[in-house]
Amino acid sequence: MSTVYLNGEFLPLEEARVPVLDRGFIFGDGVYEVIPVYSRHAFRLGEHLARLQDSLNGIRLTNPHTEGEWQALIAGLIAHNEGDDQSLYLHITRGVAKRDHAFPQGVAPTVFMMSNPLVTPPQEWREQGVAAVTATDNRWLRCDIKAISLLPNVLLRQLAVDANALETLLLRDGFLTEGAASNIFVVRDGTLLAPPKNHLMLPGITYDVVLELAAANGIPHRVREISEFEVRSAEEIWLTSSTREVLPVTLLDGKAVGNGRPGLLFQRMYTLYQEYKATVMRAPEI
Ligand code: PDD
Repeated sequence: MSTVYLNGEFLPLEEARVPVLDRGFIFGDGVYEVIPVYSRHAFRLGEHLARLQDSLNGIRLTNPHTEGEWQALIAGLIAHNEGDDQSLYLHITRGVAKRDHAFPQGVAPTVFMMSNPLVTPPQEWREQGVAAVTATDNRWLRCDIKAISLLPNVLLRQLAVDANALETLLLRDGFLTEGAASNIFVVRDGTLLAPPKNHLMLPGITYDVVLELAAANGIPHRVREISEFEVRSAEEIWLTSSTREVLPVTLLDGKAVGNGRPGLLFQRMYTLYQEYKATVMRAPEI
């Protein structure tokens, strides 16, 4: 049975309860993080906690914990749960109050964390690639905030599921932003292209790792806007996230991407990513 953390206590998942007036339930008024754990060590924890702080700043909610407190709580959650590889979910809402859109005064935030087994993508996805569809990015203009109000992402991701695909690539005003639950990279003329971080996409932790690995290993790369035409005529398309790591998209809206097989640059990056993960396991962050 998995153990979760709720407002100061570790307890069995089945016993965790939140009042129905919690603003997370009523308004989706909160932020979250998903942190992969490899060999019981939280991957890039400092970066995840920094992004959490940015999200909290974005919704004007005071961080209920210092970085040291978060580290201790997260170490506790990992220790309370089975499995060396885990996927941690951290969730903070503006707390419980009578329903009114305006911020309540003097209300403690709700802090919830859970751990799930980290299931890395099946080998077949890496070897054959995955399918994706495209859709208009109809979300708000603060997609850099990792908000729990994910209804647009839920509806957009379901378009992929309905089409037997894994992910939906989002296009806004003719340019690529990201995926419904991932960041997207494109390879053209042997160069890795990434959309620039701005308010229209989540600044992915995996996105940073991929760009750092490209820089450290002499892979040509550029961060710049990517047009819809460039996506549709790309040699390779990759998606990245904490739970999917790096995956090749080989079918887009039913058409082959490049030669329809995972590309050479993808294979190189996948190897570099796995090597990088292994170094973290040898030199743990917490
Ligand atoms: N989502 N963009 C969106 C909209 C996402 O939801 C995610 C990840 C990413 C990738 O970010 P990172 O590399 O830091 O995981 C980009 C998580 C995994 C989720 O909601 O489950």
